[in-house]
Amino acid sequence: MAERYTIAIAGATGDLGTLVTRTHLQHPYDQIFSHVRILTRDVSSPKAQALKKEGERGIITQFDPSDEASVDQALNGVDVFINILGNIDDKTKDNLIRSLVKNKVKVYIPSEYGVDHAKINFEAPMLKSKLHHQEIARELGRGELKVVAVYVGLFLEDSIVGAQYAPLLGFDQEHVTYTSVGPPTVRANYVGIQDIARSVARVAQLAIDPKTSSTVPDHVRISGAVVSYADIAAVVEKVAGTKIKLESIELAEWKEKMIASPGLIAYMRYIPGAGLMNYENDNHNELVNPGESLWKWKSVEDQIKNLHEQGRL
Ligand SMILES: NC(=O)c1ccc[n+]([C@@H]2O[C@H](COP(=O)([O-])OP(=O)(O)OC[C@H]3O[C@@H](n4cnc5c(N)ncnc54)[C@H](OP(=O)(O)O)[C@@H]3O)[C@@H](O)[C@H]2O)c1
Repeated sequence: MAERYTIAIAGATGDLGTLVTRTHLQHPYDQIFSHVRILTRDVSSPKAQALKKEGERGIITQFDPSDEASVDQALNGVDVFINILGNIDDKTKDNLIRSLVKNKVKVYIPSEYGVDHAKINFEAPMLKSKLHHQEIARELGRGELKVVAVYVGLFLEDSIVGAQYAPLLGFDQEHVTYTSVGPPTVRANYVGIQDIARSVARVAQLAIDPKTSSTVPDHVRISGAVVSYADIAAVVEKVAGTKIKLESIELAEWKEKMIASPGLIAYMRYIPGAGLMNYENDNHNELVNPGESLWKWKSVEDQIKNLHEQGRL
């Protein structure tokens, strides 16, 4: 059997983190990762305990990212560190990097999972902190720490009609009106959360294996469904039989307000609407899932059908 590694997952109890952790506890990752450290601030939480039952290679480990000693202890002997933490401050992020370097961790996947910074053509202070973190990790890692950022655009289930925040993103199902920022035909990238988890696991596997490590770039773009507000409306009309009205907000008008008052929702509407989140022809799908041989990418139609069957649409 090939060499097996220890992986640690921070943010393992979050929505994406739970799926990433589960994936690593399943076959074929048992052949690659002998130990999966499931990091959490509260080892007794129901989410942590539920993950413990998913496989005996999973080790629930106390981890407080703001406490240097706790981080050092959790990272000791780790080969791959996947960060899926929510919003943590810059000092805590710096501490993480210091510990990654000190513990000679070989592969680091930072908590990105959104937009590729290289595609952003405006000043976005809220995104800058994530980019800055990667850059410091590469600089201090000095080639010994392979840092791979994974970009997915938007989480499919969280970002279209049916999602908790869908009305804030312009999907007003009550009034059967979808309002895009920019033209409703501009397409953007949406990836199913399970597909994101699978992609992250593949990146971790390929990046740690000396035979494939060099095939993994520093920045990995995943492209699932690439659709516009008009495409989403057409799928809803087809599946649910509801006629959807399309409206749009002027891109320049939205941008002006967003620059004056930046916010996550403002970005989540502007970036796709401005055509800055379309990875259809510029992605690494073939690296993580060649020819869809490992899984079939979730489509908007899959999601809308699920919602319709559950009576949620
Ligand atoms: N592109 C998209 O559409 C999209 C959507 C959602 C998220 N994301 C990205 O995905 C990543 C994960 O986001 P998420 O919403 O899943 O995260 P989250 O649920 O806020 O947090 C994940 C886990 O991190 C730990 N955590 C949260 N806040 C912490 C803090 N202040 N200090 C220490 N630990 C903390 C918690 O674990 P414990 O309590 O067990 O310690 C939590 O379960 C982020 O980078 C986010 O930007 C992208």
